[in-house]
Amino acid sequence: MIALKHTGIRIVVLLVLQTLWLETSHSQLPGSPTFGEEVSKQEAIYQSQGEKVPEGYVLDRSLLAYASILSSEFDRSLASLGPADRWLDIGAGEGRAVLDYYTPRYDSMHPEGRERRGQKARAVAMSIEDRRTPRWHKTAANLEANKIQYLSGRRLREYSLEELGQFRLITDVVGGFSYSRYLSIFMEKVLGFLEVNGRFYTLLLDVLPDNGTSRAAYPDTLFLTEIANADGSEVRVCPWLKSITCVEVTCESRTEANRPIEIVRIHKVCDSVTVPALELLHYGAGTPPQRRFQLRDPSPASPASPASPASPPSPASPGQTSTTR
Ligand SMILES: C[S@@+](CC[C@H](N)C(=O)[O-])C[C@H]1O[C@@H](n2cnc3c(N)ncnc32)[C@H](O)[C@@H]1O
Repeated sequence: MIALKHTGIRIVVLLVLQTLWLETSHSQLPGSPTFGEEVSKQEAIYQSQGEKVPEGYVLDRSLLAYASILSSEFDRSLASLGPADRWLDIGAGEGRAVLDYYTPRYDSMHPEGRERRGQKARAVAMSIEDRRTPRWHKTAANLEANKIQYLSGRRLREYSLEELGQFRLITDVVGGFSYSRYLSIFMEKVLGFLEVNGRFYTLLLDVLPDNGTSRAAYPDTLFLTEIANADGSEVRVCPWLKSITCVEVTCESRTEANRPIEIVRIHKVCDSVTVPALELLHYGAGTPPQRRFQLRDPSPASPASPASPASPPSPASPGQTSTTR
């Protein structure tokens, strides 16, 4: 157990020490030519292969890494899922965390939930680009039909509730929550796909924490996700999440190598979710990208509706959808 803990700490350190591929210092406003360039650069990161994959674009985190990075509650939540439950991993990369869940090793490390789990939950791994490995195909072929699915070719916001259904558990480890240009629409979608009483576990790197620490405490940090009020004053990400209705939000701030990380746990408690709308002010491609948003004023709360986002996003990258196992 101690060895596992040490592995976990190393993973967190590796996570925050990874080289960020950021190339922006001036403003890239939506609609401007430089904004278009940043979007193209980001698309190139998603589609990168072999040696062209940027060092900071990590696609193969294990389930153990997820358990170390996310809220400590995540491990218990996953272990207590039964065969009728579903888990969605948004921004799954190679889907390694999902594959690790179906191994005998997982069961030997989680004996407590084994009886309740029976045959385990079904899981959906989602990624913009198809990063499936031979291990994915082999595992899928050995499991019962539709036990695991890999969805690619679209962003989360482009799926409807009719297509995906709902999930008991949703995770996002440096996936869409860190990469999306449409953060409030992204959250509407996540919460629409989450069952009442379900949990969403995620995190943000290089973000001002919700623990009273001032910006001056991080002189060397390039903040990756920032929100401003309509009057330009600062709104931290966690209080914005807490202003969403029908959810209980817990944020845990950590600092690794002087870099602030916010670990987020969201419990959906009722169906009438409204997410205060955000507009994108600035975007710089990276791993993850740099994003600055502004709250709309007066912030019109928009109902969570996976089938119809509050305002239609600009066209996403073309590509086919894969729902193959
Ligand atoms: C850095 S990788 C993380 C992979 C995996 N979670 C891991 O830790 O190994 C980012 C992943 O997020 C996906 N992604 C980014 N934005 C997304 C969005 N809006 N919807 C779905 N997937 C998204 C990318 O396609 C990619 O699979």
